[in-house]
Amino acid sequence: MDSFIINGPCKLEGTVRVSGAKNSVLPVMAASILTGGACVIDNVPDLRDVRTMMKLLDVLGGDSGMEGGTATIDTAGIENFEAPYDLVRTMRASIYALGPLLARYGRARVSMPGGCAWGPRPVDLHLKGLVALGAVVRIDHGYIEATADRLLGHEIILSVPSVGATINIMMAAVLAEGETVIENAAREPEVVEVATALKTGGAQIEGEGSSKLVIKGVKDIKPFTHRVIPDRIEAGTLAAAAAATGGRVKIEDCRPDHMHAVFDVLEATGAEVETAGECVTVTGAIEIQPANIETGFYPAFPTDMQAQMMALLSKARGASTISEHVYPDRFTHVPELRRLGANITLDGSVAVVSGTDRLEGAPVMATDIRASSALIIGALMAEGETKILRVYHIDRGYERIEQKLGSLGAEIERVKD
Ligand code: UD1
Repeated sequence: MDSFIINGPCKLEGTVRVSGAKNSVLPVMAASILTGGACVIDNVPDLRDVRTMMKLLDVLGGDSGMEGGTATIDTAGIENFEAPYDLVRTMRASIYALGPLLARYGRARVSMPGGCAWGPRPVDLHLKGLVALGAVVRIDHGYIEATADRLLGHEIILSVPSVGATINIMMAAVLAEGETVIENAAREPEVVEVATALKTGGAQIEGEGSSKLVIKGVKDIKPFTHRVIPDRIEAGTLAAAAAATGGRVKIEDCRPDHMHAVFDVLEATGAEVETAGECVTVTGAIEIQPANIETGFYPAFPTDMQAQMMALLSKARGASTISEHVYPDRFTHVPELRRLGANITLDGSVAVVSGTDRLEGAPVMATDIRASSALIIGALMAEGETKILRVYHIDRGYERIEQKLGSLGAEIERVKD
């Protein structure tokens, strides 16, 4: 397992480009199952999770390859309908195979995703939605088994606007007979993106980006070509790192229109945020101001940016509160940030971050993708050396992060253990 050695503090300066969005490309790759043909996806980040999704599609009988940021996925040869435990346990997004396999082949067997580093992550809404479309779903020895002779459109009201459930149900509904309406649908850009790819293949979907999706089933989805949107969480992470180090970074190829809630918090900390087209330039404040954050569903502040902002606020002049409304237990980064000297107390799903003048480098452990990037930000702010163990979590979701930060002036080195 690789580690990062980071020598801080540093001031990030320069220009950096954002990669394609992890949380978009994974379901778009899974959506290729619906086509039974060769799809081409551009601006694909070379991430561990992308490789895992390619492996999954190949295990199902597909043929996938990637060169220079373009993935080609041919699902004509699919003849196996099982997503095995070994893959699902390394990447929960494997659940995205469920809806497409069921809709195209009438059957799917997908290992039940377990909890994750920060607590339970149910998939009940995915399953309820598929049952509403006519699937028979049962749990067998840790596997979700779904079958359906045919799927029929239905009205589905989600109790929570889950991104995963919205996308999985939408992917199944595009091949169902008749009309499906998803109420309280997730509005995240990733949902819009999967809808866009499906529509290129002939799907009839309306309302993506709003809370009501209307899907009229079609006979088939044709192979599509699709370009992945920039990763708003990677862009936000780089912006937080710039603000945390008091630097000035121009972030290129991003979508500022997807990042308003993150920019609002950065500005509250005193950072300057200037957007121009697909670029944003973030200049950190001389003294970081405290801020209060409430995570929520898009367009509210994303839970995937909570840990990075906590790292930034750990050196604010005063106390900040962070309320986690999406995943109330998502605080595995707190003990590790404390090891760097951060002063954070937890009361249920609310963290109080009392800013301190000085963080100190220390050995710390990455526990999930975003917690890991918070530790990188902490290490960039801390005096001396920080060793971050288990950076494979970072490799799941950030493409060449050490090269990108290195080009901005960070002293960061990957070491093989
Ligand atoms: C996706 C993102 C993840 C992000 C999360 C919230 C991917 C691959 N991952 O995860 O990075 O942190 O959105 O923005 O895109 N819920 C249920 N039942 C379900 C499904 C979800 O109760 O069947 C609840 C969850 O416990 C959570 C909320 O819904 O409280 C949102 O979860 P969801 O949007 O489904 O997250 P994911 O799609 O798993």
